[in-house]
Amino acid sequence: MTDIVKKNTHAQLIIGDNTYELPILKGAEGDKAIDISRLLKDTGFTTYDVGSKNSASCSSSITYLNGDKGILRYRGYDIEDLAEKCLFIEVAYLLLHNKLPNREELEEFRTLLEEYALLHEDMIHFFDHFPPNASPMSILSVMVNTLHNYYPEMGDDPLLNINNTASRLISKIRTIAAFSYKKSIGHPLVYPRNDLSYCGNFLNMMFDTPVRPYTVQPEVVAAMNKLLILHADHEQNCSTSAVRLVGSSGGNLYASISAGINALWGPLHGGANEAVIQMLEAIYHDGADYKKYIAKAKDKNDPFRLSGFGHRVYKTYDPRGTIIKKACDGILNVLNVSDPLLEIAKTLEEIVRNDDYFINRNLYPNVDFYSGIIYRAIGIPTNMFTVMFALGRLPGWISQWKEMREDPATKIHRPRQVYTGEPARIFAPLGERL
Ligand code: CMC
Repeated sequence: MTDIVKKNTHAQLIIGDNTYELPILKGAEGDKAIDISRLLKDTGFTTYDVGSKNSASCSSSITYLNGDKGILRYRGYDIEDLAEKCLFIEVAYLLLHNKLPNREELEEFRTLLEEYALLHEDMIHFFDHFPPNASPMSILSVMVNTLHNYYPEMGDDPLLNINNTASRLISKIRTIAAFSYKKSIGHPLVYPRNDLSYCGNFLNMMFDTPVRPYTVQPEVVAAMNKLLILHADHEQNCSTSAVRLVGSSGGNLYASISAGINALWGPLHGGANEAVIQMLEAIYHDGADYKKYIAKAKDKNDPFRLSGFGHRVYKTYDPRGTIIKKACDGILNVLNVSDPLLEIAKTLEEIVRNDDYFINRNLYPNVDFYSGIIYRAIGIPTNMFTVMFALGRLPGWISQWKEMREDPATKIHRPRQVYTGEPARIFAPLGERL
């Protein structure tokens, strides 16, 4: 782990007759940043950067992402290796502890996850009070926030119990997600079973019924395991920034993660996996009229975008998308599933990649473009896709929250603005207003 390095070089900022020297910082992989932390104090100016397109909000040693080369690494390990060779819980451990677990450490972690799998029985009544068509993302966010009331040990010294709390959250989020699904279809809840793996346990809670026992298939477990790993962290994306933002005010871990879940829900972020399937279905039912959807996506007066394409950081193929696309055919074959949406997706990608509009803007398929095809094949309903993303992203969120709280440089997140409203006005009492 390398600390952020202050180079002896400076950038010069000239404002009128004054020249200011701004230190240049360098990260472990050569990423460069201009340190403007004294800018306001020294110059009276803020910077203007809508959507933080050009701003690093923190330094972090968790995930490295190179958007031009399509590189993604967790704690220095290539995503390709982790997705191929690891269990999701090994990757969760890696993110949390900056070390792949040895056998003993993995067993300890597994034992904690098993110990924490049950939900407090009183919490189960909460599920009765959501309407049957409630979004599972809203339920997830509420229930995760509520965990704080039942397991308040984070209160006194949030970092003291972080390992237990992290394990508790990583274990219980599966139970919450599966219970919300069971409630939505009116089926009896299926409790967690410690003889099953992390993913196997979730799948069993989702699909087992008293009349048709579910058989956990290794291929399905492997597919889910891979998808969770691919979603486990992605540096300072929208939901992770939300987690850090809430945590920066001293907010507890559960509240911070709940905020992350809400940020993830949006269709420009994690909600894109659901939006992709809706878009592919629409194209399919429209007689594969690709031209119509491509034209809509290019039309600046139409808010429609091609879901699953484009990324703030990747200007090439998203490496997660490459792995998922490759896995799609294999998984569908093994499960003997034929999904017409896979052909629609492949054709759409082919068209997009030969179209100047998308080429000139570096718009490639992202992680969400093919993931839904796999979720469908393993039986996950479309409205649960973003919940699956949240299950995967959770260890990343927790690791980022922990890193932020341990970092003495952390400040409450409080950006500035450029005010564009009314100038000062004279107040008129109610009777005198026009
Ligand atoms: N379809 C059509 N045009 C697009 C798309 C798209 N999917 N994405 C970007 N563009 C255009 C955009 O209109 C703009 O064009 P112009 O330069 O003419 O104004 C240009 O490309 C740059 O787009 P931007 O909105 O400035 O880029 P951004 O970095 O702010 O947004 C994004 C990134 C992911 C929100 C965006 O690409 C998008 O809306 N994609 C579709 C939603 C999606 O798939 N989201 C999942 C992202 S990956 C997983 C995750 O983070 O959750």
